[in-house]
Order: sequence, then C-alpha cells, then structure tokens
Amino acid sequence: MKTDISKFFRASLLKLNPYKSAREEYLSEGRDMILIDANENPFQSSTNRYPDPLQGELKQKISKWKNVNPNQLYLSNGSDEFITQIIMACCEPGRDEIMIVPPTFGMYKVSAQILGIGIIEVPLKPDFKLNTKAIIDSAKENTKLIFIPTPNNPTANNFDPIEIKKIIKSFNGIVVIDEAYIEFSNHESFTKLLEYYPNLAVCQTFSKAQGMAGARLGMAFANPDLINYLNKFKAPYNLNSLTINAALKRINEQVLVKNQVKIILKERKKLEISLRKIKFVESVFPSDANFILIRVDNSLKRYKQLLDYGIVVRNSSKNIFCENTLRITVGLKDENEKLLFVMRKMENL
Ligand SMILES: Cc1ncc(COP(=O)(O)O)c(C=O)c1O
Repeated sequence: MKTDISKFFRASLLKLNPYKSAREEYLSEGRDMILIDANENPFQSSTNRYPDPLQGELKQKISKWKNVNPNQLYLSNGSDEFITQIIMACCEPGRDEIMIVPPTFGMYKVSAQILGIGIIEVPLKPDFKLNTKAIIDSAKENTKLIFIPTPNNPTANNFDPIEIKKIIKSFNGIVVIDEAYIEFSNHESFTKLLEYYPNLAVCQTFSKAQGMAGARLGMAFANPDLINYLNKFKAPYNLNSLTINAALKRINEQVLVKNQVKIILKERKKLEISLRKIKFVESVFPSDANFILIRVDNSLKRYKQLLDYGIVVRNSSKNIFCENTLRITVGLKDENEKLLFVMRKMENL
C-alpha cells in the first residue's frame, strides 16, 4: 500500500510553481539543439553552460553505486544544504519545530534558527545512547522532523539501529538519519530500509571518506514523493559542473577511497591506544567515525597549548555531557605522531 507522505510537507508550499529553465524539458529527449535560451557565453569551455538542474548523469551513477532508484535521490551543495532544504520543506515558520538529540551536529539547530523554526532538544543518555522513550514521548503534533546522525558527531559512536527503527515507526513526521561518517562505521546504511519506511530520509556526503569536502556535495535518499517535493523549490542549479564532474570521477575511484578508509581506521586504533597513555587524558570514547572524542583534565588549557604547538583540534566542551572534551580528527600518520609527541610534552605543562 502506498502511503501518502504529503501530509508531512508544508501545506502552504504544496502548490508552489517551481522555476524551470527553458531547455530542461528538451534536453531529456537527447536531441542535439542550439542553446540560445539562457544568455550564456557561447564559446565552449568546461563551464560556459549552466549545469543539468536535476543532475541526471550523476544520479544514474550514484543510484547504481548505492543501490537505490534515481527517483529516490536528491543531491545538494553539501549535506548542509539538504538539512536546510528539508527543514524548509516540512516546517512552517513560527509554528513547527524539529527535534535534535544533543550532543549532536550543530547545523540542524543553526538552520532551524535561521528559518524561524522551533527546536526541541532531547539529550542522549550520559553514556551517549539514544533516549528512545523520551524522543517518542516528546514529539508533538508540530514536531515535523527528527535529526539523528549515526555515527554521531561529536561523540563518534553509532546508535543502535533497533532503537532508531522504533523511533521511525512511532514518529508521525520524517526522521533524517545523517550518515556523514558511514564509510568508517561497521553498521549497514539505512538506505536499505527506505522501501519499508516512507517517513525515512537518509543523508550521506562526499565531504568525509570520499575526500571531497571542498567540492560540496551531499546525497539524500528518500521516498520519491519527498524527493519530487524537494526538487520543486531547490535553487535551480544548486550543483556546479566542476563538482558534478569531480564526483563522476570519484565514484570510479572507490578502491582508492576504501584503501584510505582502511589506513584511517588503522591510525584511529593506534591513536586510541596511545591517547589512553597520556597522563592528562581521562577518557578516550570509542569511535565508529574518523575522529575521536577524549576527555582531558582541562579542555581550554589543553586546546590552547595545542594551538601554541600549531595543532588545531575542536573543543567540544560546550555540549551537554561533554565537559572538558576535545574532538580530534584522525590525520596522516606523521600528523598523528606529531600530535602524540606534543601531548607527551604537555604532560609536564
Ligand atoms: C553529522 C554531520 N552531518 C553533516 C555534515 C556536513 O556535511 P557537508 O560537508 O556535506 O555539508 C557534517 C560535517 O561535519 C557532520 O558532522
């Protein structure tokens, strides 16, 4: 049975007439045409033409790679853009709200604030597990979206998929599972469950394991009705041709990416062991991502000392349950060794 998910969308936008470029409908026919509709410079270069607004070629390629249908796929200028777009799509400013589960990725809250959308915070348990009952009990009629990143940022742990499924099943709105770090984790992607849960959206990114943070490319996977709806009010050319071409190339380089991930995971393991031996490190939290959260004696002091030695980490201490923590990205072997060398020196400071 097909579920009507339009009830999760903003009623005031359902009838929106989107911007369309004149050539869109003709190019899909594959005909060779003279393009004098968009006021471009006609002299050919790699960027003289506007890119394909719906990124047909890239979607074909990603859908084969990720085993989804092209109509279940939305591409964005980084996951950050998708986060903003889905909030805009589902929440009425001044009335609706999103739910987040702090400590969590900061952009969900920032995007909601910019758009005039309320935020309910349902903190994780102190051991960084989801508080499933509190999440389910706290959802109200105007709660339209729940954002759950797994592996989580900044805590680096995976959440239990069974708990996540309970939330998806019980929530009368869309649950966004943010899999920015999925390549570093041993959990399966939630994209496999898209056909069972029409209110599920999953996002992944080219910014982390895929090594393309500078190109800005996010992928979101969801029910085709939600994708269609998102397409209606995205910026017409939200992905540029340089990014599209770089991504087409990168998808062919997955052996290289897998190898880099393997090296990063090996380095992560070494770092975890060595960090535990540093005197001012009080805990090293288990990681399923490409970063490690540690608790130190005094995070501000240690953060500044590292800066003095030319090393930038993230001070995560302002997050709930993260007092005196630092978040450290796993770097190259030399960088990790330098970090440990400096931290050993800092033991006496
Ligand atoms: C959980 C999570 N989601 C999304 C993003 C943003 O990804 P993108 O670079 O694709 O905007 C990050 C970046 O740190 C993240 O940690």
